Parts: sequence; structure tokens; C-alpha cells
Amino acid sequence: MPDMNGEPTHGPTDETNSDTGPRTDSPTDSGTDSGTDSGTSVAAGTDTPGHRLTAGLTIGNRVVVRYRLEEGEGAAATDFVGELVARNTDFLVVDTKTERVKLIRADVLAAKDVPPPASRAGRPHERVSADDLEKLMAKGWQAVDRGGVGDWVLRASGGFTGRANSVLVVGDPSLPVERAIDFAEKWYADRERPAIFQVHGETGFDATEQPTVAALLERGYVVGGGHDNWQRVLVMTGLSAAVPPLTEQSAPVTADAQLQLDWLTAYGEQRSIVPGATEAVLTGSDGQLFLSVRDPDTNTIIGLARLAIHPGWAGIFGLWVHPDHRRTGLATTIVSAAAMVARENNMPAMYLQVSEDNAAGVAFWRDLGFTVHHEYTYVAKPSA
Ligand SMILES: CC(C)(COP(=O)(O)OP(=O)(O)OC[C@H]1O[C@@H](n2cnc3c(N)ncnc32)[C@H](O)[C@@H]1OP(=O)(O)O)[C@@H](O)C(=O)NCCC(=O)NCCS
Repeated sequence: MPDMNGEPTHGPTDETNSDTGPRTDSPTDSGTDSGTDSGTSVAAGTDTPGHRLTAGLTIGNRVVVRYRLEEGEGAAATDFVGELVARNTDFLVVDTKTERVKLIRADVLAAKDVPPPASRAGRPHERVSADDLEKLMAKGWQAVDRGGVGDWVLRASGGFTGRANSVLVVGDPSLPVERAIDFAEKWYADRERPAIFQVHGETGFDATEQPTVAALLERGYVVGGGHDNWQRVLVMTGLSAAVPPLTEQSAPVTADAQLQLDWLTAYGEQRSIVPGATEAVLTGSDGQLFLSVRDPDTNTIIGLARLAIHPGWAGIFGLWVHPDHRRTGLATTIVSAAAMVARENNMPAMYLQVSEDNAAGVAFWRDLGFTVHHEYTYVAKPSA
């Protein structure tokens, strides 16, 4: 959807979204404000089964909503599938493939968040499109400050990680590329941050062939932005069912829904923390778990990972094992625990991102059967 207002295009928003206040058009007659029958339904109350069923839906997620049709239409119910863009006391607003519909919450019969659609044949971790997986992963590592240019997502988080401080170039910016870049550059300049663009493609893709990148190169940007680990990042996916289960010999893994200080301190051993921004990103998704393994002698954390939870997908972030304890199977144990959580919670597919130059990381994931889904790179001015 075109969005030039700088407001978040993804992620949780308030229940009452002023942009999409109640209208009384029925979903089968969207665009007309007749408001007669639907007004009756709204008057039915704000604590109907439909209200309760829709309370847990996540704004920005793909949802399926089973909806009571008005009398006389011949069928009892129909399903709407699309992105939930807003919800208030009485209505849901869903962008389906063909139209934006406003649904009366009291008339909802069933509803749930669902994974991104299949765009090709394959197993659950293979059939998602790269654009959809990128959008999902952005929700698994939610930037503190977010905006939009059409489908592009603008993200800023005080400089904590490239992915939370870059433009996610996906879909259509709804503007000519030069104007979209102008908009993004101003958005970052307003925040005193450099504009960095994250672009993706198939394995081995040549970023310079993309029109957006060509336009950026003209402006003095470079692929990789002068950082070795920004040159090429692999997005790898696998099946949670294919990860080996925990065994009796596995070290105990703790899974905590809350971010604890000692987890954060151990996490700080692998990358610099930006106080405030780091905690906000780590805890900013709709659901996450902080996994850790401790040294039985010192009780200090010697291995950790963060698991982002999505409909149908689990994302692994920040997997790390203390150098003194590597090659003893700890990372495998942590991922086995993560996969167990994924299997138990109906998440057949898993993703992670690893820099191509991280030989140990790539070898580790390949050893577990994960394969490259697509790749991305950053395009930035060398000073960024
Ligand atoms: C990558 C990392 C998490 C692996 O942790 P680990 O506890 O040593 O991994 P495991 O002992 O479970 O290794 C399982 C298998 O992965 C592969 N592997 C792990 N480290 C490897 C390395 N340095 N080189 C080649 N293969 C490696 C091996 O096949 C290994 O089995 P083996 O030891 O029987 O040969 C660890 O090296 C690390 O913390 N690196 C820094 C952070 C990082 O790169 N994280 C991954 C980013 S997603």
C-alpha cells in the first residue's frame, strides 16, 4: 500500500487507528458508506465472540478472517485473507489481494494470524518469496523507529545493527526510484542517521543490475558500504522437524520470554550494544524467547540465541557460543531447543541470517541442513 506519511507500515500499532476510523460499509459492498445493516451489528456490543477472536490478531500480519455474510446472500460465511492494517473497537481493516475491506468485529466467526503465502512449490521453508521473507524477518528484528515509502520499510534504531538501521527495499516504493530515494535520504537526515539500503536477490545476484542500486551508485553509494560483513548476507532456511532433537546428554537450555540482564551482558560479548535501542530491538517483536546455556561450574552464560516467533515461522538471531566452549555441540543444543519450541508451536519453518564471510557460522547451519533461500547486501555511502 502506498504510504508516504512516514508512519509505520509494519508491526504492532494501537488498537484505535485514526487513519482508518469506523466506516459502516459492508465487506461485500466496500467503498459505499450506506451503513444500515452494519450499524445494527456494531450496536450489538463490543464484547462479542468476534471481538474476542480478533483481539489477538497482529496488526501488520497476514490474517484469515471467517466472516458472517449478511442475510440473503445465500452462504453463511466467507473468508478474507490479507494484511490486517488496522483495528478499532468495532472494525477490522484487511488489505486483501484485490481490495481493502472493513469488517465488523461482531460478525467475525473465526480469525487467526497466518504465515506469508506460498509463492512457489516447495516445502514450508522454501516456498515463501524473498520479499515476503524479508518483511517477516523485519518483524523478527523490529526497528525502534519505522516509516514507509510504498512497500519500502524505513528503519532506524540508534545505529544498532544494519538491518534495524536501513531501508528494506522490497516491492514497489509507489514513487519513481529517484523520488523514493530522496524521501528515504530525508527521513534518515531528519534522524541524523546515514541512509543505508538493504537490497536482496537470488544467490550470487549482482546488486548493480538493480535499478535502485544503479541510482544509488550515481549518488556515490557503494555496494557493501565499505564494511566486510555488509558485502553479502545469506538468508538461510530449514525445517524445524529436520533439526536433531535434544538428547539426554544435551546441556540444559533455558528459554525466557523476558530479556534478562545477564543474557544482555553475554550478548554484548559478540556485538556492541546501544543502550536503549538494543533492548528495544531484542524485545520488539510480537513474540520472542531468549535461550541460553550456562557453564555448570561458574553459572555464567556461555551460549545464547534469540528466537523470534511468527505465524508458521521461527527466526534465530544472535546465536553465539563463548570461544572457550566451541565445537562441543552447544550451538547445536541451542538450535535443537529452538526447533523443539518451533515444532510444538506450529512453526514448521525456520530462518536465520549469516554473513557470507562467517565461515564457521555458514558451516554450522549447513551442517544442520539449512540452505540459502536468498541473499542481501547493504548499499551505503562509504562514510556510513
Ligand atoms: C557458529 C557457532 C555458533 C558454532 O557454535 P559451536 O557450539 O561451536 O557449534 P557446534 O559445536 O554445535 O558445531 C556443530 C557443527 O557445526 C559445524 N561447525 C561449527 N563450527 C565450525 C567451524 N568453526 N568450522 C567448520 N565447521 C564448524 C561442524 O560441522 C560442527 O560439528 P563438529 O564439531 O562435529 O565438526 C560459534 O562458532 C560462534 O559462536 N561463532 C560466533 C557467532 C556466530 O558466528 N554465530 C552464527 C551466526 S548466525
